[in-house]
Amino acid sequence: MINGYILVERSEKLCGEASLYGAKNAVLVIMASLLLSRGKSVLSNVPNSADVIQMISLLQKLGAKIFFDEASHILEIDTTQINSFELGPELMGKMRSSILVMGPLLARFRKVKVALPGGCLIGSRPINFHVKGFKRMGAKVENQGNFLEASCDGPQEKDYRIVLDYPSVGATENLMMFAASNSGKTTIINAALEPEVFDLIQVLKKMGVEVWTEAPATLNIRGAKFLKPVMHEIVSDRLEAGSILLATAITGGDVYLPQARAQDKDIFLNKLEEMGHKVEIGNGGIGVRLKAVPFTKAINFRTGVYPGFPTDLQAPMMVAQCFASGKSLIEETVFESRMMHVQELRKMGAQISIYNYGSKASVRGVGTLYGAEVIASDIRASCALVLAGLAAEGKTKVFGMHHWKRGYDGLEKKLASIGAKISFVAHHQDEDEKKMVSRPKQVTAANL
Ligand code: EPZ
Repeated sequence: MINGYILVERSEKLCGEASLYGAKNAVLVIMASLLLSRGKSVLSNVPNSADVIQMISLLQKLGAKIFFDEASHILEIDTTQINSFELGPELMGKMRSSILVMGPLLARFRKVKVALPGGCLIGSRPINFHVKGFKRMGAKVENQGNFLEASCDGPQEKDYRIVLDYPSVGATENLMMFAASNSGKTTIINAALEPEVFDLIQVLKKMGVEVWTEAPATLNIRGAKFLKPVMHEIVSDRLEAGSILLATAITGGDVYLPQARAQDKDIFLNKLEEMGHKVEIGNGGIGVRLKAVPFTKAINFRTGVYPGFPTDLQAPMMVAQCFASGKSLIEETVFESRMMHVQELRKMGAQISIYNYGSKASVRGVGTLYGAEVIASDIRASCALVLAGLAAEGKTKVFGMHHWKRGYDGLEKKLASIGAKISFVAHHQDEDEKKMVSRPKQVTAANL
């Protein structure tokens, strides 16, 4: 656990240009997919985040030889010597994406034994769709307490047809990677189609796997016995882009992201325009500029699978509604308890009520928020609370910094480079801060 907090102060308009690193939700699964190949792969645009470092440790435990040049964001992974197919809770329990080694290990060794994964506390997050799919593809899967054991016969040359009950990103990815060792045709119906899934598909194709899509949401995979190492640049992080654009919107600034791909976030950009902001998109949909307007209209939105509104931008987008005028109705349809940031925003004076068993929120825009000491409960909540602090009166201390470091590579530096007053404070530096008395919290009906 990292002590200290993120200190955020009311900032002027964010203006300028910012680069984007590779997407956390693409690089982690792509790193796991390299277990399918034998040889040295080279990944570029890799974010230096805590989750990437965690995935490096996990792959090294399995026998991978890894070199990460953090300055150039280039990651070399040699999977020639992978010699284990077992992982305990100390490595599996730190994040959700650790479960994504299951498909590749089952493909490579025909058996795997892993502890159950960890991850952000945003719902129960079972792995039943993963298990059901592995079984449909001929694997025997058993739950041994906190462990999952799976095994299957030798190389497969069968056709499989899997229908996912829900377009789960992780289940789609795990099953696709398991299918990479099957020279028969595996069809996944109702598959997830997020941009990060397609980045994995690019990597599998480079390895020598045939992958093709069919409308409306069907993936077809024809694997091969020997899969090659790859060179790949990780797709830019649409969630980092969304965070910077929202920081710009909330502070009334003007920021250009040359690497942002509009196609990854069309509905999100539409919603920013619906609020009144100006969005300019570069040729071929590459490059996004946001010119924020000072007075915005609160808008309604509902999260959903791609190309719907991304659930990972729900919390930061809710903050933008707090500063808008009018009422915003927000519905979270992907995770059953992803509103933990609401109680923290209320400490800052936000007027938000939650209903429908925590899946809906109604936000009444207020003129401003007030700095407070708040606690981030997950990666995207930490982003939301930092954004709130950029426009709130006074100073905000965001505790739970380890969430921020899990999901972002130096995002605080990027925000600071375009005008944000944001810094990390280790606990022992906190002496003079003790005297700081944040403004009296606005007493609202919500937090009476
Ligand atoms: C991935 O999680 C992302 N994480 C999440 O990002 C993202 O929010 C999510 O996809 C949705 O886009 C990574 O890629 C590492 P799901 P994943 O399987 O794969 C239920 C972030 O902040 N479900 O699509 O776990 C599940 O409980 C993180 O970067 C089952 O019921 O998401 C959830 O309600 C948060 N059974 C819904 O489906 C299963 O077997 C969507 O989950 C699997 C999932």
